[in-house]
Amino acid sequence: METKTLYLTDSYKKTCTAKITSITGNGNLTTVTLDQTIFYPQGGGQPSDQGSIWNTNGKLEVNQVLTKNNEVVHTGKINGVLQEGDEVNCSIDWKRRYDNMRVHSAGHILHEAVKQTFPDLYPIEGEHGKKAYIKYQGNLENVSEKLILEKANKLVEENLPIHTEIVSLKELTRRSVWVPENLPKNKPLRIMWIGNFSPIPDGGTQVKLTSEIGSFISVTILNEGQNVYVYYKISEIANPKKEIVTSEPKGTKTFNREEIINCKNQALAQIMSAKDANELEGVRIAYLGRSGKLTNFIKSIKKVPEEDRGQVGILINQAKNTIIEEIANRKNSLSVSSRKWFDPTIPGIKPKAGHLHLVTQAIREISEVFEKIGFVRVRYPEAEWDWFAFEGLNFPPNHPARDDWETFFVDEKENPKYGPMLLTPHTSSGQLREMQRSKPPIRMINIAKCYRRQSDVSHTQMFHQFEGLVIDSDISIINLKGTLDYFAQNFFGKGRSARIRPYHFQFTEPSFEVDISCGVCNGRGCRLCKEGWLEIGGAGMVHPTVLKNGGIDPTRYSGFAFGWGVERALMMKSGLNIPDLRLLYSTDLKFLRQF
Ligand code: PHE
Repeated sequence: METKTLYLTDSYKKTCTAKITSITGNGNLTTVTLDQTIFYPQGGGQPSDQGSIWNTNGKLEVNQVLTKNNEVVHTGKINGVLQEGDEVNCSIDWKRRYDNMRVHSAGHILHEAVKQTFPDLYPIEGEHGKKAYIKYQGNLENVSEKLILEKANKLVEENLPIHTEIVSLKELTRRSVWVPENLPKNKPLRIMWIGNFSPIPDGGTQVKLTSEIGSFISVTILNEGQNVYVYYKISEIANPKKEIVTSEPKGTKTFNREEIINCKNQALAQIMSAKDANELEGVRIAYLGRSGKLTNFIKSIKKVPEEDRGQVGILINQAKNTIIEEIANRKNSLSVSSRKWFDPTIPGIKPKAGHLHLVTQAIREISEVFEKIGFVRVRYPEAEWDWFAFEGLNFPPNHPARDDWETFFVDEKENPKYGPMLLTPHTSSGQLREMQRSKPPIRMINIAKCYRRQSDVSHTQMFHQFEGLVIDSDISIINLKGTLDYFAQNFFGKGRSARIRPYHFQFTEPSFEVDISCGVCNGRGCRLCKEGWLEIGGAGMVHPTVLKNGGIDPTRYSGFAFGWGVERALMMKSGLNIPDLRLLYSTDLKFLRQF
């Protein structure tokens, strides 16, 4: 159960009564929680209070106080018996508290002194116990400790008031110069400020006047890497002076400003520790009801002299609005925590979407480009008979490509008609398969895996080729060239073109090597292409013997074919410079997810 924290609104309260809400442990490690407390739990750099909790039956000597889930937990040694539900008296070791309070407030004073000289220094943490310091992000090389000490002591001597005020989150955000990320939830929020300096969030206990800290006796600066520690010590003895009131704020003749703020503070503290809607309604009536505490201020506003009425009105109105706002907030958070809350508008957890492999993307794109002009995508066996890959394509028996060191042969009984089995070293094997399967007109695009005994940065043993084959009556080099240009423009981009150079292949006559104009220099010549063109692969007019082998009459039909590497086309298109082609087929997801 949440504990009402009385020290937040009155840091000078030395005693109170409370009810035990739980008691556990035993002996020196007995822990007690109360419905309300004056004990300050360790936090914000301030050490916890000590003291006692007792009634006629027993007494707890409290030596450690902590907060756990909005509950203040008092731990110490028990004498006699205390029980849940007991009414108890509480008193804190005031000397200890007052010293802690002075050191804590001194830290805030020191911070203002540091800020006056170095406004950009950003505070990270503070410790306000025996070894008191503020840690800043930044450095204070060659800064006079004496100067900071003097500035701090000047603020002490000025005897400035230290204000605290309970605020709503909205108000805190509006008034505080910085809003820390981990503000306590479901707990009264408080801001503090010294004199006319800007407010900052603070949950510790503070003295009322800067003179109460006595004086600073030392300031020590310790630079450590990116950070600087500013250590400080204050006098043992407090030196409280009477508050100097220089000018009476408007409205204070008939209204004490503090009174209104206090009224608001009390209300907010109660709202935030209200346990249910009933209790909340009770608080509302107590402050805003017909004869509520704040309502009484509103009623008596008539009595305020006219010249002050505006100021007082604003103050009361602000208090009223904040109370209304916080009641609504608390109501909301209470109802949220009391039922299982399901928010259907929260976006679901999206599974990570994968994507197609870069080569699959290229294959799809190439297919699309050719399908647009009537090519039909086909696939033929990748473990294939020699005849389709070599013999039928005019390769002489001693051709180097038919060597064991060039092509993978599969350990399979030879086919009496088609010879040994191999892994297709090129997609040209599909030419004969296509001719066997269908009749002209043929417009085939065969995209498949190919295998060769080569593995280095620019070769993988498995790679992909796409093979085009067109057979019809009256097919000439002009049709080939037109198709190549079409592909250059539609796959690589407008303005690109293809050129053919004489070459030699066993299965085409004449044969060509095909180049695509360089996309970087547009064919003028640059560092990438040297002469304006990049080689993509082979092409040619289908050899009459191959047509015959495929069962097509070479006197009636003619055709062209081309065969290129998918990986090469992909790299030429994207300008991707994959440092090692083998990465494409590795399982390195870091590499693959990029595309
Ligand atoms: N198959 C040949 C190679 O892999 C390319 C090619 C295909 C050449 C079609 C001409 C016609 O190099």
